[in-house]
Amino acid sequence: ESRQRGKLLDLHEAATVWFQEQLRSPEGAGAREYLTGRGVTPEAIAKFRIGFAPDSYTALRDRLASGVDAESLRASGLFSWKEQEDGSPGPLYSRFRKRITFPIMNESGRVIAFTARALDSATAGNEKAGPKYLNSPETPLYSKGQVLFNLDKARAAIRQLNFALLVEGQMDCISVYMTGVQNVLATSGTAFTEYQVNLLKRHCTQVAVNFDPDTAGANAAEKSIALLTEEGFTVKVITLEDGLDPDRYVRERGAAAYHTAARTAQALPDYLIERARQLFPSRSPEAKVKALNYLLPHIRRMPNLLARDEFAANAAQK
Ligand code: CTP
Ligand code: MN
Ligand code: MN
Ligand code: MN
Ligand code: MN
Repeated sequence: ESRQRGKLLDLHEAATVWFQEQLRSPEGAGAREYLTGRGVTPEAIAKFRIGFAPDSYTALRDRLASGVDAESLRASGLFSWKEQEDGSPGPLYSRFRKRITFPIMNESGRVIAFTARALDSATAGNEKAGPKYLNSPETPLYSKGQVLFNLDKARAAIRQLNFALLVEGQMDCISVYMTGVQNVLATSGTAFTEYQVNLLKRHCTQVAVNFDPDTAGANAAEKSIALLTEEGFTVKVITLEDGLDPDRYVRERGAAAYHTAARTAQALPDYLIERARQLFPSRSPEAKVKALNYLLPHIRRMPNLLARDEFAANAAQK
């Protein structure tokens, strides 16, 4: 069991180094151009060990396979294969091809998985290019809902400040981190899980969420806020104007503007009341009832009675 883990960790480390080499190689020119175009600095590339999986089915396998048993290679999640007619697994080929690779580290900084972005955003998401981001599958090392991206680098700052900033995407996290915000974590595009909340609870009691200002982001924020409140976190919400996600906001408005936006995060009750007013803008009694019905579950979730009373009074008045 732990020998298996050790082998899988070694495979991930070797793959990370190889992807990093590929990004520096002539084959990585397009990927380097893509990253430069997005404002990802060499410093960020080194810090987050960003790499490139070239457009090859076999190169990674040829590099890693010597001396490693086939079962470990299959369990790593780095490869795919087709089942053959007799039911046995066919030859392994690279899961990640022609993509920017972002290693996902565990809390101690060991690489346990990858998320890999398609280069061409114009074709990203279409059938041929596959999904915009392709992730490692669940493996003995990795379960998507149990990992917080960047916890290894952010942990010390989170403890010191008793505060974490939560964003959705790897690119958001990297951009924000590179502006000097060292306590930023990414959920990797989903709502917070109970597991992640409990993981975070070991390090801080205050969080600010800064999810994308789109429908998916609003839904993820709503669910995450509910879980965080239930677990007793003090929650703030950062809303960025003009539909920008944190990464684009940093690039287009600059680090200082982002820091200002982060400092003006709304306390959760204020955010929720405003959202209730947006969802049910009419001043009719029916709309007021709907707004209250929207708020009540949030109020009930607050474990602190005093905070609950204050919120209820505030909501009733508004
Ligand atoms: N994600 C995923 N699979 C997808 C799309 C997204 O796992 N097909 C995850 C990734 O972790 C991604 C996050 O969800 O970082 C947020 O998704 P999205 O907002 O669509 O991507 P961005 O982070 O904005 O990515 P980019 O800026 O590179 O377009
Ligand atoms: Mn719990
Ligand atoms: Mn999004
Ligand atoms: Mn986004
Ligand atoms: Mn983005």
